[in-house]
Amino acid sequence: MKPVKIGLLGLGTVGGGTVNVLRRNATEISRRAGREIQIHRAAARGKVTCDTAGIPLTEDGFEVVNDPEIDIVVELIGGEEPAKQLILTALNNGKHVVTANKALIAKHGNEIFARASEKGRMVAFEAAVAGGIPIIKALREGLTGNKIEWVAGIINGTCNFILTEMRDKSRDFADVLKEAQAKGYAEADPTFDVEGIDAAHKLTILASIAFGIPLQFDKVYVEGITGVTRLDVTYAEALGYRIKLLGLARRTEQGVELRVHPTLIPERRLIANVDGVMNAVLVKGDAVGPTLYYGAGAGAEPTASAVVADIVDVVRTLTSDPENRVPHLAFQPESISDIPILPIEAVKTAYYLRLSAEDRPGVLADVTGILARHHISIEAILQKEPHLGESHVPIIMLTQKTQERELKAAIAQIGALSSINKPVKLIRLETLG
Ligand code: HSE
Repeated sequence: MKPVKIGLLGLGTVGGGTVNVLRRNATEISRRAGREIQIHRAAARGKVTCDTAGIPLTEDGFEVVNDPEIDIVVELIGGEEPAKQLILTALNNGKHVVTANKALIAKHGNEIFARASEKGRMVAFEAAVAGGIPIIKALREGLTGNKIEWVAGIINGTCNFILTEMRDKSRDFADVLKEAQAKGYAEADPTFDVEGIDAAHKLTILASIAFGIPLQFDKVYVEGITGVTRLDVTYAEALGYRIKLLGLARRTEQGVELRVHPTLIPERRLIANVDGVMNAVLVKGDAVGPTLYYGAGAGAEPTASAVVADIVDVVRTLTSDPENRVPHLAFQPESISDIPILPIEAVKTAYYLRLSAEDRPGVLADVTGILARHHISIEAILQKEPHLGESHVPIIMLTQKTQERELKAAIAQIGALSSINKPVKLIRLETLG
């Protein structure tokens, strides 16, 4: 059978990794795909991270997507533009597309998938979520008999690496971030990582596939890790919890919760022990119960592993009728339903609160009185020694589940007490039971 010809857009970290994996495992890959896979042409502008001998190169991505010889375009340049125009042009030209571009799928996926369906072409995006972990495949195919109840993931390797180093080695935030950038984990703009935006892109995709809802990045509640201090990491640990940047999508009777924020997780949970750049996604299906997927969430070859798997998937289904292929978002396009996404104030969860309080009789009674008036139960409480030279003491409280609207009203009142001298620190807590 004729070889399948691919055109690569981008030869940076993931593009270089993809070339290396395709070449090193060429025999295994073609035995699986049933056809030889040839890199016909590549477009690269910045740093090239692989040996490009034998690959015709161009600086213009449109030369690749307009090349009539190419069957599959592999987009690994990231960002919204020109990636979006390149992909739409490739689809218009009758090519299938493989992409690792989470921002693009999260923000423009509805339009891109509609164009792909119109043209009878596939857009595969396994590498967009959790690097090498085949979570799209698992959710879209392996768990297809389930009603998915919730998905919770550590889906940003850079943040997990930073939080792990802060806890284990008391390292400085900025210093760890630099290391993550040097290792190729971080986004071109690392604020996407530390502010939770990258995780929100990935959560948007996971939620659509889990619940059959449109991609709605703008409705995700997003909070990054820049406000997490070493003190919080230490106090959480003293209470038996780890702090992780968690992406959570949960179906409730009122709607869908879609949120990314630092989260306390009981240390006995497997997912709380996912450290360094590793990612993990916990999926709760009504039939299967909880299932956990773990692996490298970033880096050249782990991400290339997912890109190559998508290329093979596309090659295997090249000859099948478009209507017989697995739908892009797991549910048939006409069955996507617009379940409302809940605002963060309507979310119900537990909380970690850190107060800086005057050390005198009655202060705690005032605080617990306010919580009681808002029907908020306390699960645990911890008072620490004052820090050197400080008049106020840290008090850490864990609450039971309550609605965020109530909790915010309570902490506004607590923060206004004359005995409290700093804003109340709030971190959400999930038991993931
Ligand atoms: N910047 C991302 C991360 C890369 O740190 O997880 C993988 O999407």
